[in-house]
Amino acid sequence: MATALITGGTSGIGAAFARALAERGDDLVLVARNADRLSETATELKERYAIGVETIIADLAVRDDVLRIAERLTSVEQPIDMLINNAGFGVRAKLTDPDTTPHEHAIDVMIRAVLMLSGAAGRTMRQRGSGTIINVSSTAGFVAMGNYSAIKAWVTAYTESLANELHGTGVNVTALCPGWVRTEFHERARINVGSIPDLLWLDADQLVTDCLQDAAAGKVISIPSKRYKVMIGIVERLPHRTLRAISRKLRSGRH
Ligand SMILES: NC(=O)c1ccc[n+]([C@@H]2O[C@H](COP(=O)([O-])OP(=O)(O)OC[C@H]3O[C@@H](n4cnc5c(N)ncnc54)[C@H](OP(=O)(O)O)[C@@H]3O)[C@@H](O)[C@H]2O)c1
Repeated sequence: MATALITGGTSGIGAAFARALAERGDDLVLVARNADRLSETATELKERYAIGVETIIADLAVRDDVLRIAERLTSVEQPIDMLINNAGFGVRAKLTDPDTTPHEHAIDVMIRAVLMLSGAAGRTMRQRGSGTIINVSSTAGFVAMGNYSAIKAWVTAYTESLANELHGTGVNVTALCPGWVRTEFHERARINVGSIPDLLWLDADQLVTDCLQDAAAGKVISIPSKRYKVMIGIVERLPHRTLRAISRKLRSGRH
């Protein structure tokens, strides 16, 4: 019986991972801030799939909370077979805003926590000779649209480096790079999605199924859907000057 730890497992993509893994019989450890929602999600999953669900109330922006989760990840008695670093949010603040706290908060949750938790899981899984780490990045990491892009570019590059460090150890490491997915993400970040065409929206359950297949196959980068694979293939071949101009246009249409 396998156990997966999912940060942000109560909503959107994280909840889709929780359902997919529960459906195949894995036990879960769910991490989020909202205690009521965590307990509701756990009860629902336990009743529906007859699995074990542990919850950890934690704010990934708080270093001590992250250390608590890292400790859980390194448990020998109750091993974690899969870590999904999924918790995250959009960042609207401008890079030149005088108040940098929204950026620092985003870096704490989407960089520092990913670094600490992946490192802890990687160490333990390497000793065991097996395990899977999935870091939820974004196609935003391939463009230049503010701190969110910069953070997700870090997540992807970091994941590739971790995959190299753990190569041949039996631990699979994958960066999931989704495009637009209908979740609470955009509302929470007050991002205007009115101009996003239907074609660009992805289904959370489908992308999770594809990502779990990619991770099991040892793929380091998982880009969900053919259309996004084609788009990112083109983006990666564009001159950076062109890419910056496109990013500028896209970002100005978003505010
Ligand atoms: N939706 C998209 O279009 C899209 C596209 C590409 C990538 N992504 C990435 O996908 C991941 C999941 O996003 P989503 O779209 O599923 O968003 P979502 O529906 O808003 O879910 C976010 C989850 O993260 C948790 N969370 C947020 N801040 C946290 C913190 N400080 N500590 C602990 N948990 C925290 C939330 O629970 P609590 O509020 O209870 O803490 C919630 O469970 C993110 O990394 C995001 O960047 C999303």
